[in-house]
Amino acid sequence: MKEIKTIGLLTSGGDAPGMNACIRAVTRAAIYNKWHVMGIYRGYEGLINGEIKELTTESVSNTISRGGTILKTARSQEFMTPEGRKKAYEQIKAHNIDALIVIGGNGSLAGADIFAREYDMPCIGLPGTIDNDLYGTDSTIGYDTALNTIVEAVDKIKDSATSHDRIFFVEVMGRDAGFLAQNSAIAAGAEAAIIPEDKTNIDQLKHYIGHGIRKSKNSSIVIVSESPKTGGAMHYAERVRKEYPQFDVRVTILGYLQRGGTPSAFDRILASRLGVAAIESLKEGQRNVMIGIKNDTIVYVPIAQAIKNDKPIDKELIDVLGILSI
Ligand code: F6P
Repeated sequence: MKEIKTIGLLTSGGDAPGMNACIRAVTRAAIYNKWHVMGIYRGYEGLINGEIKELTTESVSNTISRGGTILKTARSQEFMTPEGRKKAYEQIKAHNIDALIVIGGNGSLAGADIFAREYDMPCIGLPGTIDNDLYGTDSTIGYDTALNTIVEAVDKIKDSATSHDRIFFVEVMGRDAGFLAQNSAIAAGAEAAIIPEDKTNIDQLKHYIGHGIRKSKNSSIVIVSESPKTGGAMHYAERVRKEYPQFDVRVTILGYLQRGGTPSAFDRILASRLGVAAIESLKEGQRNVMIGIKNDTIVYVPIAQAIKNDKPIDKELIDVLGILSI
């Protein structure tokens, strides 16, 4: 196995709060071990185009509290092609990069997986996405911050919902995963969550709303995952408007504000631990694993497994919301 002297580091896919804390941790842990770190800008797109610059301990100073990613990010179509990956490998060679560390979500780690196999390239994945949808880790970098952002927003919407006796459908991110919706619904005291994993249909929704009204709740909040599998908040709002014309129904789509902002202490600590562990894993000879956290312990999960398996939503969370929304 070739000795590692230089690593390449990139962020890819949707930005997530805590990515900078992770870049800082990887950079400083590598330099601590006398390795060089080449920062690759704009994800795989920047790798293909050679947007690569060495990072120092100073380059990551004062970044732990910043949202977004100082390395920038992109969703690269070209890297999905064999020609694109060939160009990327030529840049890896040209910059003497011995191992690649990728911070990103499912699609980004899928890119690392195929690249590692095609070019026998040591790759380490770090779970960075607000969606929390990576199998093998209890939490992903950015999820906790996004969850808190949503809860803060829903608390405010609730004030208005209560004052006007309205039903609010609040759409949150998560793509095909309902972690943000389910847990923000519990934390904000919402009536229901419509998530892709649990086909809460219009009848169940009617039950929740009807139940609230019978119990003289004058307002309701329903959190909806943005997934095409749910149809989104607008879809449900229209259906309820038709069914209950007497109710005042409103929709709020939280959108990209969920991805921004200062990372929570939880995300900064998680990102720091995972970043240091990525360097440790390479030193131990680990290859093509995602570093995750399970029961507060660092774990290595083969990237192929992390991207292939679905991460299920705990049924207990669904029950808790059902019980508490009476
Ligand atoms: O994966 C993170 C995420 O924010 C998803 O929740 C959302 O569906 C998607 O990215 C939005 O992607 P884009 O930034 O390409 O619009």
